[in-house]
Amino acid sequence: MGHVQITPSILNADFAALGAEVARIGSADWVHVDVMDNHFVPNLSFGPAMVEALARSTDVPLDAHLMIEDADRHAPAYVEAGCGSVTFHVEAAKAPVRLAREIRAAGARASMALKPATPIDPYEALLPELDMLLLMTVEPGFGGQTFLDLVLPKIRRARELVAKHGVETWIQVDGGVSLETIGRCAEAGADVFVAGSAVYSADDPDRMVAELRAAAEAARGDAS
Ligand code: DX5
Ligand code: ZN
Repeated sequence: MGHVQITPSILNADFAALGAEVARIGSADWVHVDVMDNHFVPNLSFGPAMVEALARSTDVPLDAHLMIEDADRHAPAYVEAGCGSVTFHVEAAKAPVRLAREIRAAGARASMALKPATPIDPYEALLPELDMLLLMTVEPGFGGQTFLDLVLPKIRRARELVAKHGVETWIQVDGGVSLETIGRCAEAGADVFVAGSAVYSADDPDRMVAELRAAAEAARGDAS
């Protein structure tokens, strides 16, 4: 299992001051950018031009989460925009193997996301093609939703499959992750944690990043 990484989502940050908002989470491992197209999910956020400007404004690498239709066509633009990791949804990709290879060839980490009701077992053979697997713990579309415990068995199963295949694929969870829920995710086998409202509703977002990291490490039994 990889070391614990915290990737705050800026979806609930102040969009009129994104550069400053990202500067408030300097100890984060990645900045999670939620790209939404009003088709794959019923919400609209921003596109590659905004992501490129954000990439130029910070030294923290960007982790793009594409909640968009026709991922095969649009995902490469986010590597171009400067993201270090690009996640597409399996439900929105026509050729996930080809797309993952294209993202890697363009120089970013390739990652695939599953909505809560999408099973992992049919995609077991894809794990060697993926640098990260994102298991959604809410239905994608909005920040601030309640964590879905029903996803925990899938996190455990994904951890087993990663071990079985001897790959280093990171397992990321996204949705409703907070000090209350992060321990359950870490125990189940997640190693990368997105947190949006938990971080940006805190008085000191960077301190919350540290607290989330400590809670995940404690749940895993890592030495501090
Ligand atoms: C939801 C997004 C998440 C979300 C996380 O569709 O993919 O990244 O912004 O926000 P919280 O942590 O508030 O659930
Ligand atoms: Zn996300």
